[in-house]
Amino acid sequence: MAEVEPRCDVMALFVAARDEKRYLRVSAPMVRYSRLAFRRTVRKHGIDLAYTPMIVADSFTKSQWAREADFHTAEDDRPLVAQFAANNGPVLAHAVELMAPYADAFCLNCGCPQRWAIQDGLGCALTLNPDAMVDLVRHARAAVPHHPVSVKVRIRDTAAETVELVRRAEAMGAAWISVHGRTPAERHQPVHYDMLKLVKDSVSVPVVANGDIFTLKDADRVWNETGCDGIMAARGLLANPGLFEGGRYVSREVIGDFLGEALCTGLHTSLLQHHLNFMLEPIMGRADRQEFGRLPSATAMMTFLEERFDIKVNLPLTNPSPHMTQVH
Ligand SMILES: Cc1cc2nc3c(=O)[nH]c(=O)nc-3n(C[C@H](O)[C@H](O)[C@H](O)COP(=O)(O)O)c2cc1C
Repeated sequence: MAEVEPRCDVMALFVAARDEKRYLRVSAPMVRYSRLAFRRTVRKHGIDLAYTPMIVADSFTKSQWAREADFHTAEDDRPLVAQFAANNGPVLAHAVELMAPYADAFCLNCGCPQRWAIQDGLGCALTLNPDAMVDLVRHARAAVPHHPVSVKVRIRDTAAETVELVRRAEAMGAAWISVHGRTPAERHQPVHYDMLKLVKDSVSVPVVANGDIFTLKDADRVWNETGCDGIMAARGLLANPGLFEGGRYVSREVIGDFLGEALCTGLHTSLLQHHLNFMLEPIMGRADRQEFGRLPSATAMMTFLEERFDIKVNLPLTNPSPHMTQVH
């Protein structure tokens, strides 16, 4: 199959950011949450590079239903990194080929710590097994030679193991490395930013630092401390999709934008409610939260937000629906 050229040059973004003496602002992969409506919202509010949620390569390649459930995009949903979880090289190769027209780069998930994933040799299992990780990167690169292929890892227990892991990824051609500064066993422990600096100093490819970035100040501090090329946020962006614009809390405008995107892209009502819970956490009291949780529809939520908090839906200027693309 002739390989499709990516539409955006993600590696050029890293170079431009470095030349401008700034870091790339990255929206993390998040199962269920980093979908089209969310990506379009964060892009409007300072994000340079957005990831899809983790997509399991095996089901993606086997089932049209899984492809339709897992992935929607739009003309302007770029630059886009599609993240896959995989434990089999040929299956990953097939998945990235199918996705190549819609993504500008790929990421192999080597950081998911959930037990089901590790048992299946996915996610963190690959941080702990660099041989399997490099084999997967090799297959993906061979399948889509024009697309950069990156990895997202967690640090390992020791500095030596961490350096070996990222150097092996680099040697196998990983275009950049995103690192969550916790080990596979760690959940809420402090992030090891010193290890992120060590990773940055150990490889030549760009490094994206991840872990506990909740404000622009956090992002700037981690950039200064580690020298990494990009700063990736997950939970911080869920709470405030405008995090990289600097506000401590989410603004009404950002929530209004998200509501508009959710309407236009047909985001499921329960997901809309989850997203709004993350964003409204600092301003909703217990009674409001309980009432909000009982609202049955998107319309009821929007009316509630307008009446209680003066939050209005901002419909996007470009409606993504006509360009909505699914992988066949
Ligand atoms: C709801 C949720 C879903 C996540 N899904 C993914 C995923 O699909 N792929 C992945 O590599 N990491 C996933 N992560 C991990 C984040 O990308 C990130 O590495 C982690 O949350 C640490 O960053 P943070 O401190 O900014 O939240 C997820 C995290 C959260 C909170």
